[in-house]
Amino acid sequence: KQLHETDLGKSVGLGYFRERGLLLKTIEKFELGYTPGDRDGLTRNAVATGYNIDFLRKLGLTTDSDRDFFFGRVMFPIHNVSGKVVAFAGRQLSASKKSPKYINSKESDIYHKSKVLYGLHLAKQAIRKEDQCILVEGYTDVLALHQSGIENVVASSGTALTSEQIKLVKRYSRHILVLFDGDPAGLKAAIRGIDLILEQDMNVRLVMLPEGDDPDSYLQRVGMTAFRQYLEDEAKDFILFKTDLAIEEAGNDPVKKTELIKGIVASLARIPDSIKRSLYIAQCAEHLQVDEAILIDETHNLITQKSRKERIDKLRQERRDHAIEDQVKANQKKPGQSKGSVEAKSHFQERDIVRILILHGDKMMEQEEESIKVSTYVISQIQDVIHEFENDLYSRIIVEYGKRLASGEETNTKYFLNHRDEEISLLAIDFCTSPYEYSENWEKKWDIHLQTQPVPEENGIQDSVQALLRFMLRKFQKLSEQNREQIKNMYASEDQEGLLKHLQVQKMLDEQRNEIARKLNTVVL
Ligand code: UTP
Ligand code: MN
Repeated sequence: KQLHETDLGKSVGLGYFRERGLLLKTIEKFELGYTPGDRDGLTRNAVATGYNIDFLRKLGLTTDSDRDFFFGRVMFPIHNVSGKVVAFAGRQLSASKKSPKYINSKESDIYHKSKVLYGLHLAKQAIRKEDQCILVEGYTDVLALHQSGIENVVASSGTALTSEQIKLVKRYSRHILVLFDGDPAGLKAAIRGIDLILEQDMNVRLVMLPEGDDPDSYLQRVGMTAFRQYLEDEAKDFILFKTDLAIEEAGNDPVKKTELIKGIVASLARIPDSIKRSLYIAQCAEHLQVDEAILIDETHNLITQKSRKERIDKLRQERRDHAIEDQVKANQKKPGQSKGSVEAKSHFQERDIVRILILHGDKMMEQEEESIKVSTYVISQIQDVIHEFENDLYSRIIVEYGKRLASGEETNTKYFLNHRDEEISLLAIDFCTSPYEYSENWEKKWDIHLQTQPVPEENGIQDSVQALLRFMLRKFQKLSEQNREQIKNMYASEDQEGLLKHLQVQKMLDEQRNEIARKLNTVVL
């Protein structure tokens, strides 16, 4: 209304747009507007019409001091994909150093700038039809191209490209043509976004405009036909573009050249599609004049590293989730208990023993003035309760270790790192790479009393004894509880013989439990 129906709007606002070569139909299509220079026109009128001032503030249209945020500017509404206005950008009318050229609505419940592409609501059909999306930097670039009939164009509205924006485009096409301004800032901004595009398995080509031009100014200067021709001639595949650019920068400096090859390998490794990737590797090898085999090797190294890391992270997260789940379940069962659950405790103790076997099983330890293998000691001590392991993975490892020990096979960390069972090999990697798991907090949480604060990994043997004792204590406590339950039953059923037997068992269990507790320096009540 301000733009089309007021004198000021018509002369200043429409005048500005016309001067920039925009036709009325484009102005209307993009719903461009104008805000006059009075400082609270919008706020006053909106409130008078019944709009809630809190909403105006939340959207950033009205400032905290109840003034208009936008005034004296031409206005560019920003739409979501379905064409609803979710924010605004306002451009100053004359170059002034006092305020920024464009100001934009702040983020709000309806506007997340990382998830919006300017012009997408008008471009989506053309993007699908042309099977290509042209990405430019500025609002006016979108307007100019659109007006000239290139409708598959969007802008990232002043922010670095985000993966959410790329996903928006991907709904319509997998091909992106990035046009960037012919200046160093434009180049940097473009390069930053592109590894992201590769990761989404999109095909990216780049066009660098002549120095000093942006898409809008270049189009106005050379006209439509020449513009299209330029895009056709100059579009370069991103990876090859990056390669050529880097070669130019590095010159003949071997250190720089190594760096640049690494940078390109990093981009190559992001391409999810392996056929596409190998085609690129071949092309890059040619451009860089390096052996293709080296590039293949380096790229695959990076990919393997990355996917291993991802798998390990995933596994770790799953374990954390399980530990929490266990605890929640146990707490539900026994609402009175506030300390770490019995299940979670035994989980950690079982894990502890397995950790020691995997990391230190082949080391030697002193036990009663004799030198024996840690694994021999551990396995012999837990022989009685070897089938009491509750965790299936840990149980499998213990049983296998026992068998290998019995048949005299050598078993060490490396064996587990290369284990054919991936769950086992990942666990071994986890043990080797994660910091020692005890901490003061851990002790408190899991009700474990250590005689001394162990020094991480320097004291594997002490660890093994401690872990084992804790494990045995837990198991004996469990057996003792079960036995007591049976004694109660037999008492009730007046089974004299059974009672006597179980009382003896109880005595033995208690003795053993006390003996372990003494060694652990733990008071058992
Ligand atoms: P440009 O400075 O290239 O502006 O910024 P432009 O789009 O070509 O605008 P005209 O032609 O001078 O009118 C590119 C984009 O960066 C964001 C805007 O999204 C702009 O379209 N920008 C720029 C801002 O958000 N704030 C600014 O102050 C400047
Ligand atoms: Mn411009």
